[in-house]
Amino acid sequence: MTHRVALLPGDGVGPEVIAEARRALEALGLPFEWTELPWGSAYWHEHRRMMPPDALDTLRAHDAVLMGAVGDPSVPDHVSLWGLILEIRQRFDLWANIRPARLLEGIPCPLAGRGPADVDMLFVRENTEGEYSGVGGRAHTGHAAEVGIETSVFTPARMVRDPASLDVVVGSNLFGDILTDLAAAIQGGMGMAASANLAPGTDLPGLFEPVHGSAPDIAGRGIGNPAGSIWSASLMLEHVGEPEAARTLMQALEDTCREGPRTRDVGGDATTREVGEAVAERAAALSARSR
Ligand code: NAI
Ligand code: MG
Repeated sequence: MTHRVALLPGDGVGPEVIAEARRALEALGLPFEWTELPWGSAYWHEHRRMMPPDALDTLRAHDAVLMGAVGDPSVPDHVSLWGLILEIRQRFDLWANIRPARLLEGIPCPLAGRGPADVDMLFVRENTEGEYSGVGGRAHTGHAAEVGIETSVFTPARMVRDPASLDVVVGSNLFGDILTDLAAAIQGGMGMAASANLAPGTDLPGLFEPVHGSAPDIAGRGIGNPAGSIWSASLMLEHVGEPEAARTLMQALEDTCREGPRTRDVGGDATTREVGEAVAERAAALSARSR
């Protein structure tokens, strides 16, 4: 069965890392049909919107959406995020954001004396409500005493002090975001972290994206880490009913983390492309062996 995947590379480092995720997926020898969508900040400069009015219908015709990142210094974040990623999450009600935070072998961890056995947590981030639902408001607007109000109740987390004590973490929207940025740090950095946005119980396409943003500080230099994107691609394969290929791709990624090449953010000196090609080669070899 052909898997129809909408590719949304987006802004900044997004296109660079998504190219490698696609390369790795194509190495698996599965039937994919790609629709590349040019939505994002460049699109906004041309059309004054982040994506076309029928964008959601376009996405709905696919089995999954593989996205890079959105956001550019030339467009205010509330415009780029609410015009694209948040709009898709809200309108499709992709309420479950699944973020596996695992320290892969070979990836340096900033916590002294901790290894892969200690950092293996699954985050389920509430994705459409909580603090990002836009509920709350301002009083005395425009006056010196203007005040913004949000009310939320949260319990403390212990993930940095004792990550081995946690397997699954369920967090509200804002706290899930903050905790998974922190989790990304202890699993090697923003470039490592993956996520899936899902609407369980419906047939809407899930959206799969690295946790990181568009990284304007390194964009265009070919040094962004594609691991988070490739990991997201593996989550996507699970979602479209290819668990075997998902494991193969994950194995190829883990082998590459362990044996190299690695990008500079995780202690190597390889380029985005070199890492992507290494994963793709391993994925091709592993899937040829299992066929
Ligand atoms: P960011 O995640 O883009 O960058 C934070 C740090 O992580 C930077 O030092 C960057 O170089 C590093 N980094 C990110 N991805 C990397 C990769 N693949 N390999 C190696 N290092 C990597 O977050 P920032 O700077 O706060 O936001 C930049 C833009 O991205 C903003 O416009 C923001 O709104 C947007 N954004 C979009 C998200 C999305 O599309 N889901 C999520 C987070 C931010
Ligand atoms: Mg985030």
